[in-house]
Amino acid sequence: MNHQERHTVTGLVILMMVLWGGFILHKAPSFPGSFVGSIIGIIATFFMFIPLLYMFVKRSKRLKDRFTKWMKMSTFLKWHIYAGIIGPILALIHTGHRFDSLVGIVLTLLMLLVVLSGFIGRYLLAQISTGMREKKKLSFNLLEQYESYSKQVKPSFAKNTAAYLPFFFKKMSLAFAGASSEEMTLLKLADSISDVEYSIKMHETVKLWFKRWLKFHIVISIILYIIIIFHIFSEFYFGLRWL
Ligand code: HEM
Repeated sequence: MNHQERHTVTGLVILMMVLWGGFILHKAPSFPGSFVGSIIGIIATFFMFIPLLYMFVKRSKRLKDRFTKWMKMSTFLKWHIYAGIIGPILALIHTGHRFDSLVGIVLTLLMLLVVLSGFIGRYLLAQISTGMREKKKLSFNLLEQYESYSKQVKPSFAKNTAAYLPFFFKKMSLAFAGASSEEMTLLKLADSISDVEYSIKMHETVKLWFKRWLKFHIVISIILYIIIIFHIFSEFYFGLRWL
């Protein structure tokens, strides 16, 4: 996720939350069923179904092969994200802050939850895609250096330096014990290896969280779609006021 995307998406999410909070001050009960209100609702629904299309394309090999001929999946994910926020913003305008029925309230809260969860997931995904290959390569190079160094140096610090001390104190204690510069380099290498290994472990943890998050995001989205369809049917069934 680049800076511009992060700022735009964050700004839109804030706008959505402010719009939602507007119900404290404003209410236009006749707006959702009016001509303009209904058109906004229809456009909102159109935007909100783009993420569903994304799911179908991502999960069907045939669709994906065809689709990726004219749009990369990473670009489609951007469409998903922007449509997934603009749709709910329009849907909030469509409500006119008339939160009278249970369906209306549940639909609105679930929609906000889906967008907020998407926002968190985007952040997790960005953490995953940053430089795992480089980290593994770096860890491999450091280990190689460490092995070749440890063959040349017979370290004495292992005995006189408490293993649990932070790097800075270990370094001080080594310097006081009169360790050679090679021993110091070995310590530095060991410290760097543990840092890189930690960051690789964190990466795996984030990946696991992302998998769990994706399941949650999909489940609440599907519930949202079911309620949207129910809402649309009931609006047509009871008749749109402007028709
Ligand atoms: C109406 C709102 C939204 C709906 C209904 C929705 C729905 C979905 C669905 C069904 C998936 C599953 C795709 C799959 O793996 O098959 C998904 C994935 C995802 N969504 Fe959303 N989403 C919405 C909004 C957002 C927003 C606002 C963001 C980010 C700010 C977002 C970020 C993501 C990300 C990062 C993935 C994972 C993509 C991947 O791994 O390919 N979503 N969304």
